[in-house]
Amino acid sequence: MCGIIGYIGDREACSILVSGLSHLEYRGYDSSGVALMEKDNVNIYKAEGKLINLVEILKTKQDVISKAHIGIGHIRWATHGLPTTINAHPHTCNCKNLTLVHNGIIENYQELKEELTKEGCIFKSQTDTEVAAHLIAHEYGKTNDLLLAMQSAVKKIKGAFAFCAIHKKEPDKIVVAKRNAPLIIGVGEGENFVASDIPAIIEYTKKAIYLCDYQVGVVKKDSIKIYDDKNQLIENKIEYLPFEAIAISKMGYKHFMLKEIHEQSDVVRNVLSSKLTDIEHEIKFDEFKLTSNKIKNITRVQIVACGTSLHAGLVGKYIIEKFARIPTDVEPSSEYIYRDTIADENTLVIGISQSGETADTITAIKQAKNRNSHIVIITNRTDSTMARLADSLLPVNAGIEVSVAATKSYMAQLISLYLLAIYLKEQKGLKENEKEIQNLKHELITLPNKIEMLLEKTDEIQRIAKKYSSYKDFIFIARGINYPSALEGALKLKEISYINATGYGAGELKHGPIAMLDSNMPVLAILNSGIVYDKVLSNCEEAKARQAKLIGVSDYIAQKDINLFDDLILIPAVSDILSPALNIVVLQLLAYYISEYLGKDVDQPRNLAKSVTVE
Ligand code: AGP
Ligand code: GLU
Repeated sequence: MCGIIGYIGDREACSILVSGLSHLEYRGYDSSGVALMEKDNVNIYKAEGKLINLVEILKTKQDVISKAHIGIGHIRWATHGLPTTINAHPHTCNCKNLTLVHNGIIENYQELKEELTKEGCIFKSQTDTEVAAHLIAHEYGKTNDLLLAMQSAVKKIKGAFAFCAIHKKEPDKIVVAKRNAPLIIGVGEGENFVASDIPAIIEYTKKAIYLCDYQVGVVKKDSIKIYDDKNQLIENKIEYLPFEAIAISKMGYKHFMLKEIHEQSDVVRNVLSSKLTDIEHEIKFDEFKLTSNKIKNITRVQIVACGTSLHAGLVGKYIIEKFARIPTDVEPSSEYIYRDTIADENTLVIGISQSGETADTITAIKQAKNRNSHIVIITNRTDSTMARLADSLLPVNAGIEVSVAATKSYMAQLISLYLLAIYLKEQKGLKENEKEIQNLKHELITLPNKIEMLLEKTDEIQRIAKKYSSYKDFIFIARGINYPSALEGALKLKEISYINATGYGAGELKHGPIAMLDSNMPVLAILNSGIVYDKVLSNCEEAKARQAKLIGVSDYIAQKDINLFDDLILIPAVSDILSPALNIVVLQLLAYYISEYLGKDVDQPRNLAKSVTVE
């Protein structure tokens, strides 16, 4: 993961780097660091932990740092070596002429380290990155040219990287390179920027060049030159960046997560707009590039994703099979890539990803592309690597999601999958379930109001959250289309509160997990009115018989069953098929308030990063 930033121009580099890093902190927060170049001198400042620690150090160095107009910075999510100051980036070579920041993993770092040690390199950190710093410097020794040194070093490196380097002997430039990790060059007037992601530079420029794999860029104050791996000068087009700086504020909410949960009604409206306007009309999906004849030939769907996006995919399986009648497999991308998967030109492979940068999903998509499958990408980031691999790109338009725990992007993915399932059915000309589809369309249109009704009852969820915040373990159960809701509810809770929470299909409880139940194990059951209600209710009885504390989340509980539950959270009436989109709001809020009550770092939970760009 990690975030990298670079600046070259006339302004004070340090404040631009720090502001950029603050917008990249979602990518990691183990440590941070900046290198500031002034004439032929480079000063490096690093701090363990959150960016604020670095800011405190920089405050005491104001007189030195204000003179630098070139610099690079880094925010780390440690892959190799502890999250200590010594392992924090930037890293340097023996003579400290070269300074480097890196996002990614250098797979052959051990071999390179051995070779470089023999050449006299002395390593101070445990990182793979320091190996690259020595390697580039070693290559520099052969040519005295930073561009050539970078070009020949990257040829020796296996793995993924985005590099940003400066050199004391070439103080007019920043040299960048990438492979399987994102890097953009922000284009300014008399100044230029480098960053892992748009939010880091959007305050300063709306224009950027996307560096491609195997390219190396030389960024100067007044020019940007890009070279391919054969050292040919090439022209990448300048693109206009899609975000406004305003999108990155908490807008008065205590945390980004709470703000993003509250944005979900508008997110649904956004996803539906122009696609579903009327229950009588077919879904419009101009972004979907397969003709209806080709859609009729699809024999299977494979959905690949990770984490929360994977859970959206599991709901997708349920509705695509039900409405479009196409066999659908859902698999974590990290598993898909190590199987001899069967996919061909009649397979629709759907990659779901908020960031569009998840390394495992990118690899899975590339594999499927090689098998000539049609690639659909459902993402929140139309500027991402995955978006660029899509045959059909379905943007979910949830707006920038800052909190590491995904909420509104999940909602947007769910709604996109409902629309896609109906669209596939309509394009195939299937006539079954007509009435149900009309109901679903109507419910989708009224969903934003129901989400708003639910968000008005946060006091009750807050009270329940406080009551259960001292438990160390939690079980979430559900059946059918809400089984993924149980998984997602448990994931939300564990990732932001560190409570050991697991989601199970309610029917599976008796096949093992029930052994864990006693009065110290709360069980949250999702049981909407519908075909699985009675069955989940029986599973609740089984849990209660083991003295588990029982929380129900439902749109309807019969009067006779109410006393079974220690606590009940009622949601507005909704069909079973659309209920995941409402239930999840309750589970997000519950996780949020438990984490907040426990005083955890809600938006930046420990050990995590928002964009997982390493396999
Ligand atoms: C969500 O709350 C998690 N932080 C995580 O599971 C995330 O969903 C996963 O890393 C996938 O990310 P993506 O959607 O950007 O591909
Ligand atoms: N491998 C580098 C480190 O551990 C960079 C990590 C990353 O980009 O996630 O410092």
